[in-house]
Amino acid sequence: MHLLRFDAEAAWLAAVASLWRDRLRTTPALTMCLPSGATPARVYAEMVRSHRAGLVSFAGARVFVLDEFGGLAADDPGGTRNTLQRQLLDGVDLPAAAFHALDPDHADVARHCADFETAFGGGIDLMVLGIGLNGHLGMNEPGSEADSVTRRVELHPGTILSSARYFTHGNLPHWGLTVGLRAILAAKEVWVLANGAGKAPIVKRTVRGPIGVDNPASLLRRHPNCALIVDADAAAMLFPFDF
Ligand code: PGA
Repeated sequence: MHLLRFDAEAAWLAAVASLWRDRLRTTPALTMCLPSGATPARVYAEMVRSHRAGLVSFAGARVFVLDEFGGLAADDPGGTRNTLQRQLLDGVDLPAAAFHALDPDHADVARHCADFETAFGGGIDLMVLGIGLNGHLGMNEPGSEADSVTRRVELHPGTILSSARYFTHGNLPHWGLTVGLRAILAAKEVWVLANGAGKAPIVKRTVRGPIGVDNPASLLRRHPNCALIVDADAAAMLFPFDF
């Protein structure tokens, strides 16, 4: 795992966007798996600005959602699909058919999840992740197996509580569908994005704690091409020798 630390959040944001533009220029047919959440929102806004400035195109790329909440109305603005659509896809040139979402209301969820994995078959080139306060990746909560597949999962109570900021109502989802750790760990390149002081303890645990399913993010320490990209606040509990 590589650690990239930026003193200011603005520098963190600029760096992530710059790296992302570079990947899309180098590999226009980039297959990406993307999260919703507070962390990537400003990165998406920066990518929309980059596209409008003519600096980057998503025209040849593919995007898969990382997860989706269950039990929501299809048009709930807090859902992963709708969030990605609004924050990123409405502002860039990705063809609609190249956006693959998970449907928790599907009549045969197990088959739907298997088909979703088949669709990205050759693998994910770029996996972009936030990190949960308990180390979850997507909705792979602690205890998820390293070879877990795309599937239905139950959310931990803390995850349910912290999801309240995504929704304008109190009907917080307690389950969802998520890409599994197998595909996350098999991605060619993984970025874990974290900013703000709230993430400092889990960033420390991820970098220096034990590697194991109790902290899914720690499993990425064994990934050959994973970058943990943090601002100073999220890195505040690390030491210089960690970098
Ligand atoms: P956040 O969520 O980006 O909203 O902090 C990250 C996560 O819980 O996976």
